[in-house]
Amino acid sequence: MSDDSSPERIAAELRRWIAEAAPGAKLPSTRSLVARHGASPVTVQKALHGLAAQGLVETRPGVGTFVRAVRVARPNDYGWQTAALGSPNHRIPDLPASLQSVPNDVVALHSGYPDRELLPRRLVRAAFTRAARTDALITRPPTAGLPDLQSWFAAELASVTPTGITPAAPSDVVIIPGSQCGLVTAFRSLVGAGRPLLMESPTYWGAILAAAQVGVTVVPVPSGCDGPDPDAVARAFERSGARAFYAQPSFASPTGALWTPALADRVLDTVRRHGAFLIEDDSAYDFGMTADPRPVAARDDGGHVVYIRSLSKSVSPSVRVAGLVARGPARTRILADTQADSMYVSGVLQAVALDIVAQPAWLTHLRRLRHELTTRRDLLVQSLREHAPDARLDAVPKGGLNLWARLPDAIDLDRVIQDCASAGVVLGTGNEWFPAEPTGRFLRLNYAGPNPGAFPDAARVLGQALARQF
Ligand SMILES: Cc1ncc(COP(=O)(O)O)c(C=O)c1O
Repeated sequence: MSDDSSPERIAAELRRWIAEAAPGAKLPSTRSLVARHGASPVTVQKALHGLAAQGLVETRPGVGTFVRAVRVARPNDYGWQTAALGSPNHRIPDLPASLQSVPNDVVALHSGYPDRELLPRRLVRAAFTRAARTDALITRPPTAGLPDLQSWFAAELASVTPTGITPAAPSDVVIIPGSQCGLVTAFRSLVGAGRPLLMESPTYWGAILAAAQVGVTVVPVPSGCDGPDPDAVARAFERSGARAFYAQPSFASPTGALWTPALADRVLDTVRRHGAFLIEDDSAYDFGMTADPRPVAARDDGGHVVYIRSLSKSVSPSVRVAGLVARGPARTRILADTQADSMYVSGVLQAVALDIVAQPAWLTHLRRLRHELTTRRDLLVQSLREHAPDARLDAVPKGGLNLWARLPDAIDLDRVIQDCASAGVVLGTGNEWFPAEPTGRFLRLNYAGPNPGAFPDAARVLGQALARQF
């Protein structure tokens, strides 16, 4: 339970004060709040950040914290746009929690991208410096991508392709501006509006978003920490007549599932039997911890697997470069679609990405990253077990950036998230990861964000928020 000096108590008292105060009024200083509550400055700051995250106050550095002024300017009338736009064919979901920007000193467990500490910063800076001296700055790359980068993506997949299967060729690769674009392109080119697409549930929110944008009809297939049930995949193909299945066989976000070779074979058999595609999202390829990724694409040379691997999480979120591997007419359609959409990916970004992954230091970085992620994962798991045992983990992931925690069914999830935000801990709701109704109360907790030292405190805040509801 929280005491008088907890961030939640301080925030609750300030909320009452704000309700009575005029917009623009200055809040009591941190020093006086520290004195009044007998709390530490960090605790007071957490309370203030929670209020700022809720839009109740704004902090002006060096001046103080103020009740947010409500602007009373005359509202514009955009009503005419309703008539011009007509009703939407399909509604695209709002910005997911994973992309929410938050102040620096909250504990951010909601984000999808790794903290700068986990990026190869020196390699990125050096690669940009080198690229700036080349013609990459002023020339247009081929629409399918820089040939050397195509070769690198193909070689990476070939390196895990068993003998007896023809490895992907450089000409099978299309360089795309991030794997999110690859999902939109693949759904549009291989499925099309109004047609069925199988998708694991839960699955990556961005895939749900891409499906909504393209207007495909999502057919959810139940999945979990071991991946989907292959019989359920087969039944969904039979019932829906779908010709494509979007999945993440290696370290799925959010569940962390890593498909066994037997599961990969079963799903691949089903896909082949239905003359269908597996759209394999391998965004977590570089984030193996206690296991290596197992691309299903390496087991197929018949053009059934369309494979997407991103570098934007492991190299830098500002180097949005990914490789899409497809064979046959599917590749032709995908290339035509990306050309129509974005023409080509910035040559500078491609040169930078290639420079980085071609350095021996890249492999050293990946080895260090594996170790770092494992330490962070273990600390968060341990912190939850100690301080928030009601946040249940069905499995500890062998790779990826997140834990997928289930909360008791009776919990008010929004309230938990709000209570934690008031105490300076930002969480993302699990609801955004379900293409259909959520089947329980879940949180996706990212251990790759800043300040892992605060995981025990964050777990304590979560534990208190849960305890408050019983
Ligand atoms: C599973 C998954 N796929 C795709 C993406 C999109 O990545 P990119 O930055 O390459 O567009 C993300 C990003 O969060 C992701 O988690």
